[in-house]
Amino acid sequence: MKYINVANTNLKASNIVMGCMRITSLSEKDLNQFILTAMEEGVNFFDHADIYGGGECERHFAKALDMTPALREKMIIQSKCGIRKGFFDFSKEHILESVDGILSRLETDYLDVLLLHRPDTLMDPAEVAEAFESLYTQGKVKYFGVSNQNPAQIELLQKYVPYPLVFNQLQLSIAHTPMIDSGLTVNMHINQSVNREGSVLEYSRLKDITIQAWSPFQKGFFEGPFLGDQDRYGKLNQVIDRIAEKYQVSNTTIAVAWITRHPANMQVILGTTNIERLKDSCKGSELSLTREEWYEIYQAAGNMLP
Ligand SMILES: NC(=O)c1ccc[n+]([C@@H]2O[C@H](COP(=O)([O-])OP(=O)(O)OC[C@H]3O[C@@H](n4cnc5c(N)ncnc54)[C@H](OP(=O)(O)O)[C@@H]3O)[C@@H](O)[C@H]2O)c1
Repeated sequence: MKYINVANTNLKASNIVMGCMRITSLSEKDLNQFILTAMEEGVNFFDHADIYGGGECERHFAKALDMTPALREKMIIQSKCGIRKGFFDFSKEHILESVDGILSRLETDYLDVLLLHRPDTLMDPAEVAEAFESLYTQGKVKYFGVSNQNPAQIELLQKYVPYPLVFNQLQLSIAHTPMIDSGLTVNMHINQSVNREGSVLEYSRLKDITIQAWSPFQKGFFEGPFLGDQDRYGKLNQVIDRIAEKYQVSNTTIAVAWITRHPANMQVILGTTNIERLKDSCKGSELSLTREEWYEIYQAAGNMLP
């Protein structure tokens, strides 16, 4: 397992993360086994959000574990807040209330990382800063970050927030690459070169913000896995299967390795609840695809290079 020294923190974080959005499909016993297997494989980072399962995922996670102080110390636990039913809410009151709810459901005294889940255009960044200062000084949150934000939104927050925003969680899979597309087709008159994210990939590298790739196996917005989808991604699957055979690994490993190969040092947030897929994914942590393989996969997904 590869570990990332996350810039501006003391965190040594596995580049493979267990995402907890779908864990209510597992029984308490199976979830316990799943988490312990993930840790045996080297995963030390766990991603939650207050809205996953309406709070049930955080509760289920805590119940499945006997969270002794020794075990808690080995884990980096992250959660998110700011999405409410029908709107986004970065008000101080909501952030503070959300974190209290998260801590109580996770049965822990502190979060290693808190992310703001989706941009709230009605936010007052000074209020966010006040909320973060209160959480930090009370020892409830150690580090802060964002999710689904573009560089200007991060700059705006950072103008007020006195702590570095160290993570940005963004959607990225072989079949969903807007943050990469525009940078490869600069100055062209094609759809692929539309810069929808304000060069967030390059910005993150410049500012030492660690990108966390969510939905690494999904096409579209939760439209199911692209692996095995011969109708829409026949060529891609052919190429991935060939490369998987070369390395004697599964297609899952290659899908993960395609993200970890990027020198931006991203983390991959898995959503699987299948132990074999978890183990295969962990094998992608350190498998270094060649430059040729990386670009071949990118093009097989339907992207062009000028
Ligand atoms: N910040 C955000 O806005 C945001 C949004 C969404 C998610 N997230 C985070 O990212 C994590 C991952 O998201 P995700 O669950 O959408 O990602 P994902 O890992 O791309 O998708 C997981 C789902 O795909 C299925 N799957 C994967 N490969 C498959 C294959 N080859 N064949 C059949 N099924 C396959 C899994 O089933 P099995 O369980 O059977 O493997 C599971 O249902 C979440 O847990 C959450 O922590 C963040």
